Amino acid sequence: AFDLILAAVAGYLLGSIPFGLVLTRLAGLGDIRQIGSGNIGATNVLRTGRKGLALATLLLDGGKGAIAVGLVWVLLGREVVPVAGFAAVLGHNFPVWLGFKGGKGVATTFGTLMAASWPVGLACCGTWILVAAVFRYSSLSALVGLALSPAYAFYFAGPDYALMAAGLAVMGFYRHKSNIIRLVRGEEPRIGGKKTGDT
Ligand code: G3P
Repeated sequence: AFDLILAAVAGYLLGSIPFGLVLTRLAGLGDIRQIGSGNIGATNVLRTGRKGLALATLLLDGGKGAIAVGLVWVLLGREVVPVAGFAAVLGHNFPVWLGFKGGKGVATTFGTLMAASWPVGLACCGTWILVAAVFRYSSLSALVGLALSPAYAFYFAGPDYALMAAGLAVMGFYRHKSNIIRLVRGEEPRIGGKKTGDT
């Protein structure tokens, strides 16, 4: 039980570092939460026009999930990896430092899955890229990748990782409520497009 708590706390703390907010602030762009969708993730950082910063946000937000999983795996063992992974995304989406108002957890989820089982992470990233190439919606790509992730995890990594992926998918869909509404209304901005939504 102690290992479970340790894995959860470590995952949460690592996940709660809001890289998108920190990087854009350091770059002098003001508060990213006042821009575009108001989200702190790489997609919204891209709306500032700073591609390098968006890429850095993507890699750091993904990396913190991967590090949380890797660290817990090495120090505490594989059994508690799903707890660390779920906690990392929970930390990103509901960070105590930002009054529990965080991001949508796509990069962190995929980074977590990549470290937990690279074929699962790869399949999710591949799905994202494929859907994005066809439809050019970041949110839709994430939703399809999240929806398929439990199946990928079940196939490549087993039932415990499938359960983690399912938990992450449910949390991810919940965090994409406003995106889903915009997608249904045809109002979601496309990647590289001009129009921005408001969360
Ligand atoms: O990764 C988040 C993405 O799926 C949607 O971001 O800023 O368009 O709400 P955003």
